Amino acid sequence: MGESLSGSKRTHYCGTLRQEHIGETVTLMGWVQRRRNLGGLIFVDLRDRTGISQVVFDTAVSESAFEKAGALRSEYVISVTGAVKQRESVNPNLPTGQVEIFADELKILCEADVPPIHIEDDDEANERTRLKYRYLDLRKPKMQRYLMTRHKIASEARRFLDENGFVDIETPMLTKPTPEGARDYLVPSRVNPNRFYALPQSPQLFKQLLMVSGFDRYYQITKCFRDEDLRADRQPEFTQIDIEMSFVEEDDVIGINEALLSRVFKNVAGIDVQLPLPRLTYAEAMARYGSDKPDTRFGFELKALNAVFAESAFKVFKATIEDGGDVRGINLNGYADHFSRKDITHLEDFVKTYGAKGLAWVKIQEEGLQSPIAKFLSETEQAALIDVFDAKVGDLILMVADKPDVVFAALGALRVEVAKRLEILDPKVYNFLWVTDFPLFEYDEEEGRYVAKHHPFTSPKDEDLDRIETDPGACRAKAYDIVLNGYEIGGGSIRIHDSAVQAKMFKALGFTQESATEKFGFFMDAFKYGAPPHGGIAYGLDRVVMLIVGTDNIRDVIAFPKTQDAKCLLTNAPSVAEEKQLDELYIALKPIEK
Ligand code: AMO
Ligand code: AMP
Repeated sequence: MGESLSGSKRTHYCGTLRQEHIGETVTLMGWVQRRRNLGGLIFVDLRDRTGISQVVFDTAVSESAFEKAGALRSEYVISVTGAVKQRESVNPNLPTGQVEIFADELKILCEADVPPIHIEDDDEANERTRLKYRYLDLRKPKMQRYLMTRHKIASEARRFLDENGFVDIETPMLTKPTPEGARDYLVPSRVNPNRFYALPQSPQLFKQLLMVSGFDRYYQITKCFRDEDLRADRQPEFTQIDIEMSFVEEDDVIGINEALLSRVFKNVAGIDVQLPLPRLTYAEAMARYGSDKPDTRFGFELKALNAVFAESAFKVFKATIEDGGDVRGINLNGYADHFSRKDITHLEDFVKTYGAKGLAWVKIQEEGLQSPIAKFLSETEQAALIDVFDAKVGDLILMVADKPDVVFAALGALRVEVAKRLEILDPKVYNFLWVTDFPLFEYDEEEGRYVAKHHPFTSPKDEDLDRIETDPGACRAKAYDIVLNGYEIGGGSIRIHDSAVQAKMFKALGFTQESATEKFGFFMDAFKYGAPPHGGIAYGLDRVVMLIVGTDNIRDVIAFPKTQDAKCLLTNAPSVAEEKQLDELYIALKPIEK
């Protein structure tokens, strides 16, 4: 059993001791990182969330403390009191490396079993073990730094929003489905049998209602829940910094958010963000980068090649263009030597995962073009290709022919993939970008109808209002995303505040009057009683933290995250429910069919 504190008070954190403390008597509390027994002396590295101090147990200082220290093992929790002294062998790698504490009192507050993972940054335990023992994993300095940075980002954002008149208001967790495009997490209601709440995919509807109520500027740092396929930058529950404002247009929302971003990045990470941030329309972003969240830290921009290959003897290209498809390519300028035929085959396999049927390539060499399709390319085509890309000896051009969305997806991803393989992505560069003028709708092949690209409350551009009914595909939205180094860190829009436009929108989305009323009647009603023009944005806080700390794994910046298959390995959630609970909820389980 551990000793009780019985009056001991911590005077300092382990990581804070410096030369100026020499001569003071201090009390430290924390975990034993390491114990070394050198016969007459025992050295203990004592750790807390601020760092490590070296403690020395010396029989000449205290016989009893020395005796007790012999029992110490890694991760024991102790309290140590002693004098701070100049260290004989200074450790330049530790901030506290100039000093050490000579202990004259030791309390063992709690013993510890041998931990299943090493409490060190370079621990090599696999992620499942780390997640199972997350409370130990979180003892690691790196993980502590990540969560501290997360806290700083959230509090800096809060400070900025408070100073700028935004009001923090909570919205319900047990609510109606919010249409953000993912599946809902449903919660059965016991007191209303066979009725379900949905956990919010975002506070979207409520924050708009708060504008109708006149709160004018709202924010909330809150959990959102989406039952979607998980990736390295997605979790089923994640956190948004959610913002809404009244009497604003796109530039107003963008303006205050640029101030917010530059403040957070400067004060948390010392990163200078040059304002105003660059902007690209969705159409430009797709044409140049094949992506609506382009990483602009490097070139390799897409070029349209239909004009070059419309009459090509290479049938794949000609036929694709005739069928209304596109041929586009990128030029890995100067990097031809980095890619052998085998490497290019790997790149071809890579684009195939995006639905491309192949990857045509051309290397520019002193003696001419080297390419499996060279024999099909006329001299005019070769010259035009070189001209479009301003290609030089040592360049490698990669091309895809397919339906436009496949070409964009394949080349957009390929650009990033080759940049990663070439290791030309500078982690110290932070390239922000607003992507604006998103399409209002996108066509859902499976459902055979248009769906909202952002959400159904996003306002069309004034000049495209008439197109909602006549040409939905060409309708652009007052929607914007904020992109950082290839990640969508936030997105928002100016909303529809006119019930007539909202009704048109629901109609275009294939809702009948009844189904729209059933789902969003309460919401549309609100707009009958005086709604201000309004708009807002939401940031994915987890992604912002990822980018600031420099990890590509979202789980690293969430204290208790879920695995790719939405499990919590620490608690074993989700788990089976008891018969009694299910009975109370009127729920009967169906057998699982594989
Ligand atoms: P949106 O759906 O674009 O907009 O979400 C806003 C931001 O939240 C982050 N995000 C996620 N992060 C981690 N895991 C996820 N599963 C996940 N899904 C989204 C992204 C994204 O940019 N209500 C609107 C905002 C608005 O219009 O004001 C909304 O939720 O960084
Ligand atoms: P093939 O005519 O199938 O032997 O292909 C010749 C070259 O063209 C190969 O390098 C293929 O990868 C490439 N290729 C085939 N289909 C496409 C396509 N749709 N887009 C781009 N390249 C293609």
